[in-house]
Amino acid sequence: MPSITFAPDAPITSTSDAIAQEARAGLNATPKTLSPWLFYDEAGSHLFEQITELPEYYLTRTERGIFAANAEGILREAALGQGPSGKLTLIELGAGTATKTGILLTEAVRQQGSVVYQPVDVSETALDEATENILANIPGVTVRSQVADYTREALPLNRLVETRTLALYIGSSIGNFTPEDARDVLRNLRAQLLPGDALLLGTDLAPGNGSSKTIAALLAAYDDAAGVTAAFNLNVLTRLNRDLGADFSPANFRHRACWNPTQSRIEMHLESLLAQRVHIPANASGGALTIHFEAGESIHTENSYKFTSTAVEALLASAGFKKTRSWQDSQHLFAVTLATAV
Ligand code: AVJ
Repeated sequence: MPSITFAPDAPITSTSDAIAQEARAGLNATPKTLSPWLFYDEAGSHLFEQITELPEYYLTRTERGIFAANAEGILREAALGQGPSGKLTLIELGAGTATKTGILLTEAVRQQGSVVYQPVDVSETALDEATENILANIPGVTVRSQVADYTREALPLNRLVETRTLALYIGSSIGNFTPEDARDVLRNLRAQLLPGDALLLGTDLAPGNGSSKTIAALLAAYDDAAGVTAAFNLNVLTRLNRDLGADFSPANFRHRACWNPTQSRIEMHLESLLAQRVHIPANASGGALTIHFEAGESIHTENSYKFTSTAVEALLASAGFKKTRSWQDSQHLFAVTLATAV
């Protein structure tokens, strides 16, 4: 994870420069790593959409169910203490195609007549799709999308007079970060909010602690029978070939998912099936690079942290938010937590 700095005038970060820097640093490290944001090129974003529809991947449908059952309460609670105009402005970090957000936007329009929605994402194609879907289906929403990396750039908070901001950070996207980086991402957000603004955080829950989730179900969610998650993981190699001219043979790697109980996270790895060398040609970020793999050696491509409610509350507190309320599905698979900026 790069350090988090405000760089409002910096260029969009998903350039081949940023990709090259990330790949060079990660593949030279021991153990080898690649950051999960590299998954989301056009093919990867599409594969992720397919993942969200898999029978094994309970996260998306469970969170959507929580929104569907509680949208009215969530928005009423978030609007408590709002400015005199009585309106919330919604901003969404890592919005993607914003399919679940529609439920909350529809309810916001119902409660306040209209709503301004500011989705932020690194994928322009995803944001275009989100904007098109929302404009076509939910009258009363004004969309102001912005392509940005919310972990490094200031958020495009066009604060409207006498409105209050509700920041949405849903889908358990926060789970990709180590606890320290997660705290920094939330502090970065908090620094751009005013006291009384709100955050709605979606987190996948850890097995045990009252959740009916088994480790087997958790593993299946990250290693599905149809192989979509494997294709999603392997696609990062194809992306490095295309964007950096690397010569990975994806067929020489296999997808592996494991549960790390000490860190309370699912890990995804790409394991080398044989001893091999891969090359990245010289470019603006550095000279030609040869990467050696032992048979069985892996690239760690993703962490997906799983939380207890106590951990969520502590994380929020460490970033200047106070939990006000949370909602879970009946099986306690997933939690949606509302917090106030203090
Ligand atoms: C988008 C980070 C929430 O961790 O579940 C899905 C990404 N990786 N399958 C997750 C992902 C493999 C996803 N997040």
